[in-house]
Amino acid sequence: MKNLPDKLLKNITAFYTFDISLLKERIQYLRNQLPSSVSLCYAVKANTFLIRELTDAVERFEICSPGEAEICAFLGIPSEKMVISGVYKTPSFIEGLLVDPCFKGIFTVESLLQYELLCKAPPKEEPISLLLRLTNDSQFGINEEDIERILANRNAFPHIHILGIQFFSGTQKTSAKKLRREIEHLDMFLQHLKESYAYEAEELEYGPGFPITYFSADVSKEEELFKELSESLCAMKNRPKITLELGRSIAASCGRYYTHIVDMKRNKGQNYLLVDGGMHHLVYYGQHMAMKQPYFSVVGKETEPAEETWNICGSLCSMNDILVKQTPLPHIAIGDMLCFQNTGAYCMTEGISLFLSRDLPCVYLLLENGEIIEARGSFETSILNTPNYERKF
Ligand SMILES: Cc1ncc(COP(=O)(O)O)c(C=O)c1O
Repeated sequence: MKNLPDKLLKNITAFYTFDISLLKERIQYLRNQLPSSVSLCYAVKANTFLIRELTDAVERFEICSPGEAEICAFLGIPSEKMVISGVYKTPSFIEGLLVDPCFKGIFTVESLLQYELLCKAPPKEEPISLLLRLTNDSQFGINEEDIERILANRNAFPHIHILGIQFFSGTQKTSAKKLRREIEHLDMFLQHLKESYAYEAEELEYGPGFPITYFSADVSKEEELFKELSESLCAMKNRPKITLELGRSIAASCGRYYTHIVDMKRNKGQNYLLVDGGMHHLVYYGQHMAMKQPYFSVVGKETEPAEETWNICGSLCSMNDILVKQTPLPHIAIGDMLCFQNTGAYCMTEGISLFLSRDLPCVYLLLENGEIIEARGSFETSILNTPNYERKF
């Protein structure tokens, strides 16, 4: 693990760092593991602070809300690289993009209502490109039969171009067998569409939900999964252009979360460390009440021998706010900094950020040339929890 730059060592509140060299190395690693024809689509929900750095590194960006679209537009992402996705697409948002002559992105279709809305769009010079999202038996996407009905009737809408199928079945998936079965099923479905509706999908956009090893007890199966995925894709009868939609697998490993020890106590025979951050800043998929041990260290004391066992707790008024339970630590003191690893994806957006009106941490980007950029300052949330109205008593 790289050392924290001196400038950040002096920080006195919790913060995140995203290391762009690690991010780029990760993209290269993914490309090396996958067939060269496979494209990458970054699901920006994983971490919007990485979007600009990924502009030239991935082929597409998956955007699931008007807010995410605004961020991408602000960062200058070309619309050709945008996949407008999401289970609820605000009608005014879709309509706005449909009438924008400069918008050249792709829409996913999550429901028959969304499809209807897109079909009603006034024809433009270029047809509207769509991916039909196949359901994974949840509230997302549409049934196979509905996809078939849409395709059977596709010639009624000449200004609509159905590029192919999108499929995402869940995140943090560790079963190579399940991956293979999914791809086989998708291939069979594409074959059925070809034989029954004379529809040949040009594209398959697939979210494999590649996992990250967040906890010390986890065993990484990454290489096995990449091998299985690559073999299964190459074995497909159909040859659509494949794009992998990835969030966690691209973003997690470049992130670190730093938080300081602000108090230490012994209650009923247990040692407790209080830190200035907590579970509102640090969410690991699969973690609950610190049942699992994430990868972390005491900054500057990584090689010191363990002295005592501690429970590391955050600063929320919740007994759930435990980051690590019963962990042996070297000699520590108030002011020491803890560093949590693999925090580049979802970690900072899935926490209960508004609880207790505590501040959001600073976000720093560590650039490849050694520069440190403050991508977001620390942000007060009290303003969001302050009622703003007049009342006479
Ligand atoms: C449609 C879709 N694609 C891709 C992703 C990214 O998933 P992951 O972070 O597991 O790669 C998600 C995550 O929710 C998603 O909903």
